[in-house]
Order: sequence, then C-alpha cells, then structure tokens
Amino acid sequence: MSYNLKNRSFLKLLDFSKRDLTYILNLARDLKQAKYGGYEVQCLKGKNIALIFEKASTRTRCAFEVAAYDQGANVTYLDPTGSHMGKKESIKDTARVLGRMYDAIEYRGSAQHIAEELAEYSGVPVINGLTDEFHPTQMAADLMTMREHAPRPWHEISYCYLGDARSNMGNSLMIAGCLMGMDVRIAAPKSLWPDEKHIGYARELEKVNKGRLMLTEDPLEGVQGVDFIHTDVWVSMGEPADAWEQRVSLLRDYQVNSALMKASGNPRVKFMHCLPAFHNLETEVGRDIHERFGLESMEVTEEVFESHAGIQFEQAENRVHSIKALLVATLGR
Ligand code: CP
Ligand code: NVA
Repeated sequence: MSYNLKNRSFLKLLDFSKRDLTYILNLARDLKQAKYGGYEVQCLKGKNIALIFEKASTRTRCAFEVAAYDQGANVTYLDPTGSHMGKKESIKDTARVLGRMYDAIEYRGSAQHIAEELAEYSGVPVINGLTDEFHPTQMAADLMTMREHAPRPWHEISYCYLGDARSNMGNSLMIAGCLMGMDVRIAAPKSLWPDEKHIGYARELEKVNKGRLMLTEDPLEGVQGVDFIHTDVWVSMGEPADAWEQRVSLLRDYQVNSALMKASGNPRVKFMHCLPAFHNLETEVGRDIHERFGLESMEVTEEVFESHAGIQFEQAENRVHSIKALLVATLGR
C-alpha cells in the first residue's frame, strides 16, 4: 500500500489535498467496478460505525449503510431523538463514549463545530455527513460523477452552481472545484454569495491548484460554455419557513430551465442536483410553495429534471461508491 489515509477524519474538503481526493475518487471508481462485476472484497469486516443524524436524510444514511454492509461493517443509526447527545450529555462526553465502541462516526447536523468536537474527543475518524457549512461526502460523489461524464484532466472540466450559494452546497461546490483546479462559476444574487471567509479559502486553492473561480450575479454569464449546471434547494434544512418568500424573489431568475441550459451554448451540458429537489408539485413543500407563490417548480423545472441532461440519479448512486471509498481508505485493513 503506497498511500495512507488511515484514521483520517473528513470534516471538510480542506482536510484533504487534491492528491488525497484523487486517491478516494480512484478507489471509488474501482469499488464501483468491483460491485458491478461481483468481485468486491470486504475490507471492513468487524468494524462498527455510528451514524448520527440530527437532520433528515435519504441518500446519505442509505449510502453509509449500504457501503458499510457491502464491506462487511456494522452500523448503528442514531436519529435526532435516539441518543442523549447535546440534551443530557455533552458532545465531548458522547464523543468519548462512542470512541470506545466504534471505529468511526458519521455526523449530520447543523453545527460544523460539533463534527469537529466529535473528532477531537472520540479518537476515531469522523465523517461529516452534512452541516450547515459543508457537505464534503456529497462533493466526493459530485466529482466522481463529473469525471465519469467528462473523463478529462480536472482543469478541462467546468461547472456552474446557481442558487443559494452561502449554503453547505454553495460553499462546498465552490471549494471542491478550486481544490481540483477546475473552472468553477457561482451564479447568485450577491446577498446569497458565500461569505468572505469561504471565498478566501477558495481563492487560495484556485491559486495553488491553478483553477478558475468566477462569482457572478448574471446566470447567463455563469453558465457560458460549461460542462455541468448544478443547483440545490433555495431553502435548506433548519432554515425558518418564512425564508421562502425572500428566496423565491431572490432566486426565481436563477431557476435551471430549458432556456438556461440552452444559454450555456453546450448542447451536451448536464444537469446535476444533490437532491432532494423541488421540480414539480409531488411534494408537500412543493404544493405549499405553489399555493403561496404560484411556482410549479422551484430551483429546476420538471422538463430539465426529467430530460436526458439530468444525471442527478447517477450522482445519488455515486454517494454509495464514494462513501465506501472513504470508509475503506480511512478504516480498511
Ligand atoms: N444529497 C443528500 O445529502 O441527500 P440526503 O439529504 O437524502 O442525505
Ligand atoms: N442545502 C441542502 C442540501 C441537502 C442535501 C440542505 O442543507 O437542506
């Protein structure tokens, strides 16, 4: 084994170098092939992983569970009411208990500092399954998916993220692309741009890795010539319901629709979304927003979502392969 990520936490993208992430992505590709080919070898037999979810999840939870089971590990799922953490027991104490029982901890919740505290006191690798600030495991899947569709050097791959850019996804997509040296555009109203601290991290990485970062308020400028168009929900988990009114008015011009896809000038442009997405009236929230603001879809239209350009379900599947690679690289034998 010439490369070692054993016992490393993945709390934010900045914990990994471009070389580390490339290693994870190559491993994810190999593990995906092995699963498809029926020759997967279990490297996590006897390992126990705690999955702490203080917020809801479909993909992240299922991807961790399937990845762990495929590799022979066991998991314990702790839902928002399933432990004493933060209510009757401090994060520090919880970390010290879990660290004596488990080989790794996944944490999804609001505060980035909780993920960091768990890592500091548990003594085992902690993987951030989403906080308000970052969504690093999603980035592993997004990079993997982009490379599958654009098998070129990173600096020859471009994407634009449109929408609420001062969210976990906005921060993460801005930083991930700069870390890999990609051509990254963020298109959002200035009031929803990532904060200066995160832009600073990205600019530093842009310089070191020879990437390109553009922040613009103009969606048409943002998507010019790109390979991929990303978006996310306009209001994230944990934000107040009354945020919708402001976001709908700020972001309706940033909706990913057929005209915007066409405006990229790239007939092969692909659409990506971490999901869940509001693209029709088949959800409670979607219907509520329709009643209040008259929108049939929000960040992406049904037409784009259901088109051949949409690769969001490949992205969702790649959560399993990329999370598995993270687990194998940090915990495997
Ligand atoms: N993309 C993502 O993290 O999905 P879940 O909220 O379903 O985990
Ligand atoms: N920004 C979204 C991402 C969900 C995967 C949220 O935090 O709700």
